[in-house]
Amino acid sequence: MLFDSLPRRVTVYEVGPRDGLQNEARQVPTGDKIAFIDALSETGLEHIEITSFVSPKWIPQLADAAEVATRVTRRPGVGYSALVPNKRGLDRALEVGMGEIAVFLSASETHNKKNVNKTIADTLDAFTQVIEPALAAGVKVRAYVSTVFGCPYEGEVDPAVALHLCKTLRQMGVYQVSLGDTVGVANPAQVERVLDLVLAEVPIAEVAVHFHDTQGTALANCLAALACGVTTIDAAVGGLGGCPYAPGASGNLATEDLVAMLHSMGLETGIDLEKLIECSRLAESFVGHDLPSKYLKAHLGKRARSRRRAEKGA
Ligand code: HMG
Ligand code: MG
Repeated sequence: MLFDSLPRRVTVYEVGPRDGLQNEARQVPTGDKIAFIDALSETGLEHIEITSFVSPKWIPQLADAAEVATRVTRRPGVGYSALVPNKRGLDRALEVGMGEIAVFLSASETHNKKNVNKTIADTLDAFTQVIEPALAAGVKVRAYVSTVFGCPYEGEVDPAVALHLCKTLRQMGVYQVSLGDTVGVANPAQVERVLDLVLAEVPIAEVAVHFHDTQGTALANCLAALACGVTTIDAAVGGLGGCPYAPGASGNLATEDLVAMLHSMGLETGIDLEKLIECSRLAESFVGHDLPSKYLKAHLGKRARSRRRAEKGA
């Protein structure tokens, strides 16, 4: 059968508090972010990216990173991570006791320059002041390679660049590289092509995928990645998200859309879907607009219909 070879268990890496809130026009109050992360910690998620120690001039939405990291309740068994672009970011992350950080760069020069104001080579150079000292301090380091499947400025991106960056980052000591479809242009056949290339040289446990859902292909892309053996998938509750330096990028794949599909296919995540839905509703209440998650809309519609039926019957 087509899907017999899928992994039985999938690890979901929640990026809503970071990728999600970095792209909200409205400044979300720090207390709401903390309540959101604390609620996510109760869902069974094992990895939550909570904020970014980037320049507040570049991402003012996450200027309260230190306060967020200090005030969240760290639940045992949950890994809390944050984006770090440079040595300054690492120092800030270490000051508040982060146990995991994530570095990031792009597979296309123009997006990299727009996002971190450096060439790819200079970004890798700057990572030497981040990755090694972080590891020496006992901090785990993950990495993102953005624009693997297409760049908002350059269009097509050679998958060989992603492979090269994965190998370089691995040598530098990151434990996993997440391959980003930053603008949401990937298709499942392309995902298979890129992963075939990368997985020929990088162990499967060290590769994750990160799909934005601009064109509605994120779930299909996940299925292609799972069929290639990938077991870690990034997602953001409600479908929050987007890179402010990638025009046209919309939200991430919604965590509940992913988890609902996986569970209905008999794949385990360890995540409580009902609790996840409550996190999405909480996020909707403080971002002040509807979130794009399909499962959320369907589920709330079902709830409203059964409430109306119960009221009629009463
Ligand atoms: P720069 O302007 O070239 O750096 O920015 P700089 O060294 O000249 O610093 C400028 C100012 O920022 C200085 O302050 C620094 O002190 C300060 P001033 O002297 O002017 O008062 N600064 C910092 N402050 C706090 N924390 C820091 C920090 N660094 C410098 N860490 C820089 C270079 C990398 C800092 C900047 O470009 C930046 O922060 N970029 C981040 C952009 C970003 O966060 N983008 C979104 C995340 S990536 C993403 O979403 C994609 C992903 O989801 C995967 C996918 O979807 O593909 C991960
Ligand atoms: Mg992203």
